[in-house]
Amino acid sequence: MTDVRTDDHRPRKRVFIRTYGCQMNVYDSDRMADVLRPLGYGLAASADDADLVVLNTCHIREHASEKVYSELGRLRDAKSERRAAGGDLTIAVAGCVAQAEGEEIVKRQPAVDIVVGPQAYHRLPELLAEAERKAAIGRAGKRLPGAGVLDTDFPADSKFDHLPAPQGIRAGSAFLSIQEGCDKFCTFCVVPYTRGAEYSRPAAAVLAEARQLAAAGAVELTLLGQNVNAYHGEAADAAGAWSLARLVRAIADIAGIARIRYTTSHPRDMDDDLVAAHGSVPQLMPYLHLPVQSGSDRILEAMNRRHGRDLFLRLVDRLRAARPDLALSSDFIVGFPGETDADFDDTMRLVAEVGFAQAYSFKYSRRPGTPGAALDGQVPEAVKSARLAALQALLGQQARAFNESKAGLTVPVLFAETGRKPGQVVGKTPWLQSVHADGPERLIGRIVETRLVTGHANSLTGEIVTRSLEAAA
Ligand code: SAH
Ligand code: SF4
Ligand code: F3S
Repeated sequence: MTDVRTDDHRPRKRVFIRTYGCQMNVYDSDRMADVLRPLGYGLAASADDADLVVLNTCHIREHASEKVYSELGRLRDAKSERRAAGGDLTIAVAGCVAQAEGEEIVKRQPAVDIVVGPQAYHRLPELLAEAERKAAIGRAGKRLPGAGVLDTDFPADSKFDHLPAPQGIRAGSAFLSIQEGCDKFCTFCVVPYTRGAEYSRPAAAVLAEARQLAAAGAVELTLLGQNVNAYHGEAADAAGAWSLARLVRAIADIAGIARIRYTTSHPRDMDDDLVAAHGSVPQLMPYLHLPVQSGSDRILEAMNRRHGRDLFLRLVDRLRAARPDLALSSDFIVGFPGETDADFDDTMRLVAEVGFAQAYSFKYSRRPGTPGAALDGQVPEAVKSARLAALQALLGQQARAFNESKAGLTVPVLFAETGRKPGQVVGKTPWLQSVHADGPERLIGRIVETRLVTGHANSLTGEIVTRSLEAAA
């Protein structure tokens, strides 16, 4: 069981946080745990032994938000069982569904006590106190199933000004949120509505957090933002304006940080300096997640991506010139309204031309309130499914080919966890592929030279090089 010691003497309670969606939510879930810790909350391993359950939700596709309601149905049943036995269960909905649907959630599932948007997590203690008070009234009157306390404001200041120092280091690796929200308004996407306007944290605060994480043992930092390469810090200083490239170089100077990654970036915001950093900063790992969504100029325009296929292809060339072994990853949407067979062929040709190490692909999902939802030419489900299958087959072949191409190399691997088989550890190559190798648990959190032996569809098998194993011992 993952448990956290509390640092005061109040009665112990337990919180279970279930995280859906992107890495921003993973980071935020850790921060919610940080906020709750001083209230006496340790972490529960499941909802069954929790006093408080937080669902940190994702609104990006219909399927993602519908999952939340089925989970809430199960939690409602658990809550009524608890109440029948004289206890209680507090249910909170956080994240992007909370932001997008607000009190609709309480209407649809009245057992919910708290709805809290991504900008209000520092207010969780107050919301809990209020929910507690309302629930007590509800229990006495046997009326109110949940408390329905709501905070989905976008405050003028940033939540980062209020949150405690982060503690979320997993096996040497930590997320560091540097940017939030998005002003791009792609016509399919809910993020500008759920996360609000683009906001960059001041570089001083980011660097302080990076130093703190390094001092606490982090060797790898992944810089996070919905549009992380739009990062611009605060006002320029004597050394000029802040940018992601400058931030990466500053983080590379922090002792102990051996690996830097960033996600998610937009092709339009890859400036020359950032492209060059891929060639000149050794700590910047040779992996880039660069969503393109479609290979058709017509569809890119309808998506409001503000670039065509050419810009993307030229960008890939520039990146590969800077860092020839760069592994490229991307996101694709098939079946955007109006997508014809010819448009889809353009996407397939772009994929064939670039050669991706890894990629995520989705059927277009019509999201209420986005401009795409109102467009004519919605594509039938069967067409979307066929296109997705064809695209995934090609991307799958490319991922396997990429993995196979690395067999025979000896590379540093950051081990992250034990494998399914006894005596096995699993880690990540510089290109972010998973590697399984026989090795002791004490290698977890360390970077160890590993010979890559065989490439598979989604991972590689490796052998730890004895010399470095002794060095690591
Ligand atoms: N900020 C990132 C991505 C955010 S969402 C970017 O700019 O690319 C992650 C991915 O989900 C997107 O890249 C897109 O491929 C997919 N996605 C977003 N909205 C979607 C929708 N309505 N239907 C299907 N996929 C969607
Ligand atoms: Fe969504 Fe587009 Fe912003 Fe990415 S850039 S978060 S896809 S609106
Ligand atoms: Fe989902 Fe919100 Fe992230 S919609 S993808 S959790 S920003």
